[in-house]
Amino acid sequence: MQTLSSPNSNAAIAYTREDWKQGYESQPQEFDYWIEDIEGEIPAELSGTVFRNGPGLTDINGYRLRHPFDGDGMINSIAIAQGQAYYRNRFVRTEGYLKEQKSGKPEYRGVFGTQKPGGWLANAFDIKLKNIANTHVVYWGGKLLALWEAAQPHRLDPNTLATLGLDNLDGILTKGEPFAAHPKFDANCPTATGKSEERMVTFGVKSGLSSTLRIFEFHPDGTLAKDHRHTVPGFAFLHDFAITPNYCVFVQNPVSFNPLPFVAGFQGAAECIQFNPEAPTKIIVIPRNGQGKVQFFETDPCFVFHHANAFEKDGQLILDSICYNEFPDIGDAKDYSEVDFDHVPASQLWRFTIDLATAKVDVTVPIERYCEFPTIHPGNVGQEYRYLYIGIAHDQTGSAPLQGLIKRDMQTGAEQTWSAAPRGFGGEPLFIAKPNGTAEDDGWVLLWLYNAVGHNTELAIFNAQDITTGPIAKLNLKHHVPYGLHGSFTSQYFGPQQPRE
Ligand SMILES: [Fe+2]
Repeated sequence: MQTLSSPNSNAAIAYTREDWKQGYESQPQEFDYWIEDIEGEIPAELSGTVFRNGPGLTDINGYRLRHPFDGDGMINSIAIAQGQAYYRNRFVRTEGYLKEQKSGKPEYRGVFGTQKPGGWLANAFDIKLKNIANTHVVYWGGKLLALWEAAQPHRLDPNTLATLGLDNLDGILTKGEPFAAHPKFDANCPTATGKSEERMVTFGVKSGLSSTLRIFEFHPDGTLAKDHRHTVPGFAFLHDFAITPNYCVFVQNPVSFNPLPFVAGFQGAAECIQFNPEAPTKIIVIPRNGQGKVQFFETDPCFVFHHANAFEKDGQLILDSICYNEFPDIGDAKDYSEVDFDHVPASQLWRFTIDLATAKVDVTVPIERYCEFPTIHPGNVGQEYRYLYIGIAHDQTGSAPLQGLIKRDMQTGAEQTWSAAPRGFGGEPLFIAKPNGTAEDDGWVLLWLYNAVGHNTELAIFNAQDITTGPIAKLNLKHHVPYGLHGSFTSQYFGPQQPRE
């Protein structure tokens, strides 16, 4: 039995459900303050702003949401400079958030199963979606964008987090057009002038009997570099993708969608997804130049939300993805807090090695324990890489809340782990490269932790070269923030103009 480095790693139990549930409580308040309670020291070279998105509300005036993914997006920012840190959070003022805050009751059905009060009669034939802007937040082209994959992004002021409104990216998106919540950033994309630039590469998908994928690439100033569309057969649940210098890589999960229970008012749209364990999963490979044929490769049945990375090597395409053996729904639980973890599939890190000439796909499993939310050095996106950081459950077997962090050396298989068990709960780590760093792991890993002891949230900063010894600094917030989804970092500082005395 591997021992995790944690003050309480010998605890008889990894966690209690009561502790874990408290981390999902709504946080209706909005704050602005210098973080006073700091354990350790913030590295002097760490300067910029950390943004994170996630559901801020898990109830509407006491009416519990069936799933936190249905909760209104709340953006958190921590601006860091000169060893000091400033915290701010704001709800995204979406049309739905404003309407429900005014009426004090649920006005929309949630994609993940939250129904309006009144039973199926009150929900039947109401198929309008609430753009909850709760999945990711990125700063690109001078715009801070809150992302939700089924519709347009919302633009926010990065200094104040005030909502500026829906954004069509200077006329690129049509009203309500899907825009994925998982952009990829290619650090060194060649340009026509022979130089290179960073690019934001992303997509939108409209799915039905067949699915249309629109792929975008954006210059650093936010203008469009590439824009092409492709049609693929069948329903395509595509939450994330991966890039290489030449390809966009998608995994088409073996699922079907029966909209009838949704339309009839019995289930949320995502609850109408059915996993077919007999069908192959398809890997879709689309040339980034928008030309050439789209290739499809079949592999073992699995369900994928997130990808860690992809790269090309010796005529092969390597794809590292987080794979479940079936669609991870919450089963018969009345809401997510009552989910039976014994019946939730535990995802693993799978490596697909695709021979582009023979179409043969080999599968290995570098990380067998439950893991989710991968992050790598941003300079290695789309490139062969060595170090992967990802959230883990405390125990090495089964499914459970994320409580720790693992660093995996993809070349040697060596691992470093850390856990906040039994009373700390994690989520997505975020790797930040050290300015002028040379080694791939020369940087920091940031992890938002919910601490049930004080019912508050902390931002833990790890030395990426030594995860095992635990955080080198912890920024303790005065309150809790409900478990989030995805976040990002910019080296631009969006805090008060002058650090405090
Ligand atoms: Fe995601």
